[in-house]
Amino acid sequence: MKVIKSISEMKQWSDTQRAKGLQIGFVPTMGFLHEGHLSLMRIAREKCDAVVVSIFVNPTQFAPGEDFNRYPRDFKRDEALCKKEGISVIFYPSHEDMYPESHRTFVITDQLSQLLCGKSRPTHFKGVTTIVCKLFNIVKPHVAVFGQKDAQQAIILKRMVDDLNMDVEMIIAPIVREADGLAMSSRNKYLSETERREATVLYRSLQLAQDTFEQNKNKSFIQNQIRKMIEENSSGRIDYIEIVDGETLAEPAKQSKTILIALAVYFDQTRLIDNVLLKNDC
Ligand code: PAJ
Repeated sequence: MKVIKSISEMKQWSDTQRAKGLQIGFVPTMGFLHEGHLSLMRIAREKCDAVVVSIFVNPTQFAPGEDFNRYPRDFKRDEALCKKEGISVIFYPSHEDMYPESHRTFVITDQLSQLLCGKSRPTHFKGVTTIVCKLFNIVKPHVAVFGQKDAQQAIILKRMVDDLNMDVEMIIAPIVREADGLAMSSRNKYLSETERREATVLYRSLQLAQDTFEQNKNKSFIQNQIRKMIEENSSGRIDYIEIVDGETLAEPAKQSKTILIALAVYFDQTRLIDNVLLKNDC
């Protein structure tokens, strides 16, 4: 396994693979890897000849006052995990190379980036689309794998790839959870013991919503049910509970193929997100 830090070397490596007719799979991450990340790598390994994992804590997707500085980092551990998963290259660029002083260009996915998480993090997705676009241009993957954990991110990135006619096949992989149901996240590390225990209510409330949805599709009824369960069982502060079309984030409609129930809840300073994606068979 190679660790490549230079952008030009990364491009060259990918050009060589492509010249040999090999398929490049790509898993972009911010590191501090867990089973959720590893599940994406396994999917990429299965589909492709070689897999690149990027590790880059992207400053432009954090607003001032968010957790950029304290975001957990452990490159040595990440390196060992990637090696075990049969990764070909870790792309590990510096902030100076990715965002030199002269950097002025951003990619914005209009409207979608202002809904759900975008309401409390209005500049977040601009940072995500910009860095993923840059990474795609450097790594030149045939296939990229993202997690359903970040449902809105997945929808926005698929929109970007379609809108900008990018030649990347997008795969969205299921959410990997802890044994007690909490969605795995690098940010779970911030939780105190009590918060960690209470945070299991998020998935339980989504499961209850999923059951309710089968009999009763009334949006505010389900939202209230989730809200009540979270408020009665935890100290979590609800940022949002949304029920939207699972492909467009628009109001659910009869013709919606899937319905996304998504939430964001603060436990003290730690903001956790989770969701379930339901088939809409009405
Ligand atoms: P990060 O939070 O490190 O996540 C990297 C990828 O892992 C994302 O596609 C995310 O959805 C996926 N992932 C995280 N937790 C998961 C879980 N429990 N189950 C399944 N997949 C999971 O998302 C980012 O980084 C960044 O925004 C990035 C796309 C790298 C751009 O900077």
